[in-house]
Amino acid sequence: MSAITAQPIGASNHGLGAVVNDVDLNNLSDADFTALRNAVYNYNVVCVKNQSKVTPKTQAELTRRFDPEAMSYGHGKTIDAKRSILHPDLKTVPHQPEVQVIGNGFVPQYEGLKNVTLKHPHHRTFHQTVIPDEKDLDYTRFYRWHIDAALYGELNPPMVTTLLAVKVPAGRTQTLLYDDNSNDELQVPLGTTAFVSGYKMFDLLSEEQKEFVMTSKIEYAPHPYVWISTAKSRSDGLGIVSEGKEVPLNDLPPVEHANHIQILPMVWRNPVTGQYALQIHPSPVRKIHLRNGRVIDDLEKVREIVHDLQRPGIAPELVYAHDWEEGDFVLFNNQGVLHSVVGAFDKDEVRLFRQCNLAASRRPVGPDDA
Ligand SMILES: [Fe+2]
Repeated sequence: MSAITAQPIGASNHGLGAVVNDVDLNNLSDADFTALRNAVYNYNVVCVKNQSKVTPKTQAELTRRFDPEAMSYGHGKTIDAKRSILHPDLKTVPHQPEVQVIGNGFVPQYEGLKNVTLKHPHHRTFHQTVIPDEKDLDYTRFYRWHIDAALYGELNPPMVTTLLAVKVPAGRTQTLLYDDNSNDELQVPLGTTAFVSGYKMFDLLSEEQKEFVMTSKIEYAPHPYVWISTAKSRSDGLGIVSEGKEVPLNDLPPVEHANHIQILPMVWRNPVTGQYALQIHPSPVRKIHLRNGRVIDDLEKVREIVHDLQRPGIAPELVYAHDWEEGDFVLFNNQGVLHSVVGAFDKDEVRLFRQCNLAASRRPVGPDDA
């Protein structure tokens, strides 16, 4: 028998989120793990409260329990890492390299890291258009809706990501603006992580769109996070603005094998419920492969198609914005949700999180694999 009961968070439209109390993740029985895994695949985002004592080792082992054959950290050790957009955001725990430290502000000492300055992204450098300075601390945006995945080489998208909130600056809320001519906005806690359901995103599609996403595949750019490192994000965080600012393909590191370019199904199947999620990482998309063999390679058009498919799924009422408390240990179904970092911090507001995910042992299961 398992002691775990997952309580859904609120009565909401987004179909995401459950809370688990009274569990010690450092001592999790097989029955508890099975119950936790079921909760993750039914609610897609599960917060286990009061887990400040979870060690990096426990975090890595628990993450691996979802996929025992999983490989290294989800992004591996990308060559030319310094040019990647991910580089400034992640610091690796020296004694547990699958676990990364992320956040904001100066940290004198933590888990073997010394004198590190963590850097949360900022509006000024991220989107194509900026929030004016005078509105900076009161307003925010989604930075980048994404799946945690290398999307290149032999590294498959991780099944589950775990996040432990070690230090959370408290107090403020911000108004999140979509700034996409929609007037959509959302009140969010400072430094929230926002989630939307890929299953909901799929369900919102027309029958024609469903047919399209079930039968088409998406091709990602080579060295995707270097490629987009010089480009700017749309104001709603859902992909890149097409203005030709990507790193030219011949300035990227070489592609060692043609099959290192990842071409993935657009919809991925939930291993417990069997539902399909629309799972496209909008920023590094490059081409669409149609069922009849035709390839859409006009980048601007590819991005518009993907944006049209995804935008309904990030409507304010469909966003679950987690209100972090220290000790929250969140596990999310990385093959069934998109998530985004949110918030603009002052440089002395310290936020410290631990993140872990592992490149999956196999490709996501799409309609052709069913
Ligand atoms: Fe992420």
